[in-house]
Amino acid sequence: MYSDSVIVTQLDGGRTALTPANAAAPSTAPSCAASSPLLVTAGLRHLAVRPGDRVLDVGGGTGWTSGLCAYLTGDDALVTTVEIDPDLARTAAENLARCGLHPSVVTGDAATELQTPHSHSDGLFDRVHVTCGITHVPYVWVERTRPGGHIVLPYNPPIGRLLRLTVLDDGSATGRFGEECSYMPLRSQRLPQPHQHQHQHQHQHQQTDEGATGADDTPPSRVRSLEFGTESLLDPAPGLQVLLASLVGDEPWVSGSGSVLLTDGVSRATVDEGGRLTQTGPRDLWDEAESVHRAWTRQGRPGLDRIGFTVTPERQYVWVDDPAVPAVRALGEAAAGTATTAGASVG
Ligand SMILES: C[S@@+](CC[C@H](N)C(=O)[O-])C[C@H]1O[C@@H](n2cnc3c(N)ncnc32)[C@H](O)[C@@H]1O
Repeated sequence: MYSDSVIVTQLDGGRTALTPANAAAPSTAPSCAASSPLLVTAGLRHLAVRPGDRVLDVGGGTGWTSGLCAYLTGDDALVTTVEIDPDLARTAAENLARCGLHPSVVTGDAATELQTPHSHSDGLFDRVHVTCGITHVPYVWVERTRPGGHIVLPYNPPIGRLLRLTVLDDGSATGRFGEECSYMPLRSQRLPQPHQHQHQHQHQHQQTDEGATGADDTPPSRVRSLEFGTESLLDPAPGLQVLLASLVGDEPWVSGSGSVLLTDGVSRATVDEGGRLTQTGPRDLWDEAESVHRAWTRQGRPGLDRIGFTVTPERQYVWVDDPAVPAVRALGEAAAGTATTAGASVG
């Protein structure tokens, strides 16, 4: 039977037994899965593997996408996959071998330990296929990709978008966003998760029951009335969604209690049902989000056809219209809200 289901194959890095009850428990987190076939197909379409391409598949998991890459390039010896979990790496190699495929399966952290493979002369790949969520693109992936080659990755978990970068001669990479997606984050880029996203028509989120004040060394809560409603930031258009996620860390959502919540994992902004805004932590996240929204509106509400992402050795950023200009500058007003806040930086 075929379906577009995600098949979870590991919980909590293997520390929790994979049973249906454990998989459904809110306290467990999937750490490996065969992803949604439709999403994998979309990513591979963006990757556009040609026969003879050398392919790096980041996040070996079950070995499934490495096998697909081997099929597309026509020679399993041209595929390298890197998997951080030794047990999963072993299983991936075994699964692939059962299909008669023997790509190079490397155990290690693809963000920090990617070494020049010995299998080919210059160590460069034509295509890099990433199947874990990325908030900061490890520059080594750009370095390891031939100019003109593509890197396809799920950008900005928990709810993000596929991003297809093309590597340029000057050592930078730039590209645009595609389909909405949700992938488990690259292990070294896991953030504290104060909520769990449920990817439904309108995102629904669960609020943790924290007090209104932050830790001792954080500023006290700032409370005020809202100037205008929350609707403009809830369920945003795709262009605004990417900008909010990149510049603020996420988009606001209706929490279980009916109030609206926005958090980057440290700071939080809560709007109660009476329209009263409370901002806690080092950042005034709601002010920043409104600032991004105003600037986005002023720019003519750019959609994904005008928005992209650039990676250089020094910085990485979302842009509007011009791949050389970070969105915080292009949007002007948004910069005012984010310039002093390290968490908002996309560079
Ligand atoms: C969604 S699963 C990958 C699915 C896989 N492509 C497949 O077809 O089954 C994400 C995988 O990325 C791996 N992973 C997470 N962080 C990693 C890292 N820093 N380096 C290499 N692999 C990583 C996880 O262990 C997990 O197996």
